[in-house]
Amino acid sequence: MDCMNTEFTLFKAQILHFPSETETPSSNFQFEAEGALVVEGKKIKAVGDYATLRQRFPYATEHDYAQYLLIPGLIDSHLHFPQIEMIASYGEQLMAWLENYTFPTEIKFADPEYCSMMAEVFLQQLFKNGTTTALAYATVHAHSADALFAAASAKNMALITGKICMDSAADCPDELRDSVKSSVDESQALIQKWHNKGRNQYAITPRFVPTSTPEQLAALGELARAYPDVFIQTHLSENQSEVALVAERFPQHNSYLDVYDHYGLVREKAVFGHCVHLPESSWLTLREKGATAAFCPSSNLFLGSGLFDYASAQTHKVQTVLASDIGAGTSLNMLRTYGEAYKVCQLQQHPIDALTGLYMMTQGAAVAHQLANDIGNLNPGSFADFVILNPNFDTLTALRGTHSKHISDSLFSLSILGDDRAVVDTFVAGQSMLNSTSQEKRYAMA
Ligand code: GUN
Ligand code: ZN
Repeated sequence: MDCMNTEFTLFKAQILHFPSETETPSSNFQFEAEGALVVEGKKIKAVGDYATLRQRFPYATEHDYAQYLLIPGLIDSHLHFPQIEMIASYGEQLMAWLENYTFPTEIKFADPEYCSMMAEVFLQQLFKNGTTTALAYATVHAHSADALFAAASAKNMALITGKICMDSAADCPDELRDSVKSSVDESQALIQKWHNKGRNQYAITPRFVPTSTPEQLAALGELARAYPDVFIQTHLSENQSEVALVAERFPQHNSYLDVYDHYGLVREKAVFGHCVHLPESSWLTLREKGATAAFCPSSNLFLGSGLFDYASAQTHKVQTVLASDIGAGTSLNMLRTYGEAYKVCQLQQHPIDALTGLYMMTQGAAVAHQLANDIGNLNPGSFADFVILNPNFDTLTALRGTHSKHISDSLFSLSILGDDRAVVDTFVAGQSMLNSTSQEKRYAMA
């Protein structure tokens, strides 16, 4: 018995997580139907069976969520912070969508005050959906990354972001264009200011090949070499016209990925959004370099980009994570994002089960991002980032719940039918992000 442990908080709930890295999440999970999570300050102290932990921590303050499911905080591995306000913009495919909706929206982030205000809105939308870590793109403006890091720091959140780099005169609006020098100088200054400060990490962020000159890609490759433990995030082979454009501009390279590889941008902690139209050689390179593919199903459907080939990702053992890709994606909710991934894979006769889906937004993502000592699971010593879900939040889900015989079925129907109404609370470093603030109301009224 840990005596006089009054500083501990015990959350009584049904507990589900993946304690370690696995290739078979559907059989390597921990589920406690009558479980508990014990939190000490910002960290997890213990996880397991309620009766045992209640006895071990007799003085811990108890919160009773016995009817609910407690899972690790969700990780969204690719989305765009400035695009939250232009979600659900009609009708275009990638290149026209960028020109007509995305770039005009990102120009608004030239105003630092607007960035700070939208950073709060963005984080609140994540928490409302149970997401506690994001790999988010900022805009080309260095202060947009500053604003997001500052907002995340105030909440003790593990956030990865970076200023977008885009310097191609032919493909970037003047207002969103940086230069080789400014992109490197500003990215480096942001690394020095924020990388590994608190729970923040930096991501070197070339938008994608079409918006960078070869000189900028080369300079960012050099920067990446100088900072081997920062993330790299970019887009890869999302749309056929985009792929054709890259082939036309870089005829000397065998593939789109080969351009990034040539400039030293393919490595561990490099996260490639989309990867929809990949030749076999690119899957092999991603695997060989330990890079990660971010599967963005709702975005790929919404922009008509194509169907991610999950079977090839699996065959080649490429680390694959799930992502909303807001604002091309249609939901910030990661469980719902898995629901879309399920449909994309069903169309290819290769369904993903719900436990594997959950793994790809918790422990699997944390392993890919080399963060599994801190997030993605409920192991003692990890940060107390977790979500409490009510799988039976309305008449329909409660009715459907009566048919669920196994936790995987419950999770599956929640992913297909659920949304933020299922999120009872989201905790970041031991603090409630939903019930202790009224931020969303404030911004709704502003
Ligand atoms: N490719 C380059 N930029 C973007 C972006 O902002 N969203 C998506 N979906 N694809 C991109
Ligand atoms: Zn994107």
